[in-house]
Amino acid sequence: MSAPLDHLIETLNETGMTRFFRRMFDDFPDLLMKDMTVEEVRPDRMIRVQGRWVRNFGSDSFLGLDQHPRVKEAIERGVRDWGTHNGTSRAFSSVAPNVEVEEKIAAWQCTEAALLYPSVTLANIGALPGLVTRRDVVVADQYAHNSIEEGSRLAKARGVRIAKFAHNSTQELERTLRELRPFRHALIALDGVYSMSGQLPPLVEFQKTVREFDGFLYVDDAHGTGVLGTQGRGTVRDALGSNENTLVIGSLSKALSCQGGFVAGSRAAIDVLKLRSNPLIFGGPVPPPYLVGLSAALDIITSLEYDKLRANLDANVRRFVSGANKLGLALLGGLVPIVSVLVGPEEITLRAGRFLFDRGCYVQSVVFPAVPHGAGVLRIQINANHSMEAIEELLTALAEMKQTIPLLGQDGEVIRILVTPSVRPSAIPA
Ligand SMILES: Cc1ncc(COP(=O)(O)O)c(C=O)c1O
Repeated sequence: MSAPLDHLIETLNETGMTRFFRRMFDDFPDLLMKDMTVEEVRPDRMIRVQGRWVRNFGSDSFLGLDQHPRVKEAIERGVRDWGTHNGTSRAFSSVAPNVEVEEKIAAWQCTEAALLYPSVTLANIGALPGLVTRRDVVVADQYAHNSIEEGSRLAKARGVRIAKFAHNSTQELERTLRELRPFRHALIALDGVYSMSGQLPPLVEFQKTVREFDGFLYVDDAHGTGVLGTQGRGTVRDALGSNENTLVIGSLSKALSCQGGFVAGSRAAIDVLKLRSNPLIFGGPVPPPYLVGLSAALDIITSLEYDKLRANLDANVRRFVSGANKLGLALLGGLVPIVSVLVGPEEITLRAGRFLFDRGCYVQSVVFPAVPHGAGVLRIQINANHSMEAIEELLTALAEMKQTIPLLGQDGEVIRILVTPSVRPSAIPA
């Protein structure tokens, strides 16, 4: 007889999503590139996989700061000055670079204060449930990041009512809030940039609506940080001009190319979060070398050099979007450096990704559950350190792909699945 743990693992393998993934692995062993190992990288976004160099269009390091000499040198200096880790939760003490980075983030974001978390996921699992109590409600966009859902579940476990509303719909948000009344305050959680489609939320309309319901916006801007608006301050300041009645959660691991997440807001909000974010109290911090690296990355972002990096990035995005449009591909995004090419069914999406890889361009094939069933996309991330030649090569490979692989997205049906509200909020128990 197998041990209980072995038996449990066997059962889990036959259950729900695990079973679904196992089937995919069995059905498409050559198409799924999930376990791809990158053996080497070069500063120009080439990666070596199984001994072959291919162009990497799957990096969140949008500005190319992961390869910036000043950021690399700062991390090395951080190791020399501080060692690899300070070995304690911030509930006990912080190192000076932690305080320095939080001050720089607050100055950059034009807020009174900022608080660092080891990742955006931990920020959402810590800050979101920390901001509400039993009399409040949490309402999240149906396509908000998984960590918002996990944070909402923690809030629910503590007696907070939670709900979802249909994607990007002000009307549905309003209806959900009306149905949930009475409550004290509503935390409205959404992504600043939807990472699978590159779509942005209608923040101006949302802000108006939430005000009418004594609510506030909680915006996970992981993919907008560093690439949208003046000095890359992100989606919220770009759309609303201020952080009033809004908490911004930004990423330090994507455009800033180091490690961590942050919450930027009023001093009072940050002080409360320090006391109510369990992952911060019971878990470890961003290691000091990365804090020193972040300090350098923030200096670059707030200097004139940022304009140059952004100009490269924006030119690359424009060139790619214009070329892909000319090919007649059905595109989503393009306002940020994430552009999704709509394909459709799971197998065809995986085959399309594999086709591009075989022609020297790695892009991510995104299928269910990250997107709805039958709405698979090729997610393409454009970076500032891609050369124009790299962009042209990708466009050539896409043109060949279009001749070979039937892209069902072009009839517009898949676009509707991905970007329009599809579910009544009351039908989505969170
Ligand atoms: C909107 C959003 N939030 C959070 C995350 C996760 O961030 P982290 O890796 O810092 O936990 C991602 C990752 O891509 C994301 O797209």
